[in-house]
Amino acid sequence: MSNRKIGMWLYSNGGGDKIQKKIIKKLKDRDIDTINNVNLRQAIAKNGHILHNDVKLDKLDLFFSYNAGEQTQYQMYLYQALNRIIPMINSYDAFALTEDKFHTSFVLRNNGIQTADYKLCHRDDGHHLKKIIKKWDKMVYKPTDGWGGVGLTKIENEANLDMLMPFLNQMDLRFFYVEKFIKYDNTDFRVDIVDGEFVSCYGRKASKTDWRTNVTSGGSVFIREANDEIVKVAKKACKACGVDIGGVDIIYDLEKEEYIVLEVNGIPAFATPEQEKIGLDFNDKKIDLIVDLIDRKSKKK
Ligand SMILES: Nc1ncnc2c1ncn2[C@@H]1O[C@H](COP(=O)(O)OP(=O)(O)O)[C@@H](O)[C@H]1O
Ligand SMILES: [Mg+2]
Repeated sequence: MSNRKIGMWLYSNGGGDKIQKKIIKKLKDRDIDTINNVNLRQAIAKNGHILHNDVKLDKLDLFFSYNAGEQTQYQMYLYQALNRIIPMINSYDAFALTEDKFHTSFVLRNNGIQTADYKLCHRDDGHHLKKIIKKWDKMVYKPTDGWGGVGLTKIENEANLDMLMPFLNQMDLRFFYVEKFIKYDNTDFRVDIVDGEFVSCYGRKASKTDWRTNVTSGGSVFIREANDEIVKVAKKACKACGVDIGGVDIIYDLEKEEYIVLEVNGIPAFATPEQEKIGLDFNDKKIDLIVDLIDRKSKKK
């Protein structure tokens, strides 16, 4: 019987190259071969096949896609096609869902998970935002497909909104997505879940001059214990989104006195070598759970 064979595309910066090697070795120990660095950008679809350097990706037993770089429409298009034929981690549907903040909040809320209150309206209905800011006091305008805190705009009052609207109107947007600004202590929890199991929790704290916790917005990572409530919320959020692997961003709403989920990340980063030095030691556990997951999902029928 031939070995199982999977394709992998995992980021190599921030210690990712070492993670790749560990995963490949652990899979090999289970007689699973890995074709590494399979970037769909370089693939070509031809008749019944999706080819990458002469490898027929559609014949693989599984594809593990874990590269944090934004995917182009072409990559997403092939991701979707390939997932019609072979198992993928995360599945295309789950990944595409988590790439969109509105769809994620919509699904989470329908599964009984607390999120920030939000509204989505057609670009021509921007006048609704006036009513909303009156009700909410403060809100956040968010691009639905953003990351790293980029493009998030805090709107503090009606005058702010009046100033912002002409710019938004110029931007040829399809719609407006806004969230109620949550009063919180400018820290969050990032909880990683793999295959329904708790992997890790750490915190991020916004810099003194920003309200966003993202490292790209000047936030810093710190050691933070999870609690039962947070783990429960994170597992439920991953289940609702259908992700096998998810990093759930959670903040504590000081007014409602409850945890709320801000987003689910479909490619949550492993701890970088610098973060490992400050004590984030979850990488091996995460790798083991991912290897178990790949093993189970790649079993030939
Ligand atoms: N509704 C909100 N109220 C208050 N702060 C928010 C809200 N939404 C986001 N933030 C802050 O902005 C950061 C980035 O928001 P998030 O929705 O996670 O988008 P991104 O994909 O850019 O990380 C969060 O980590 C949090 O600090
Ligand atoms: Mg985030």
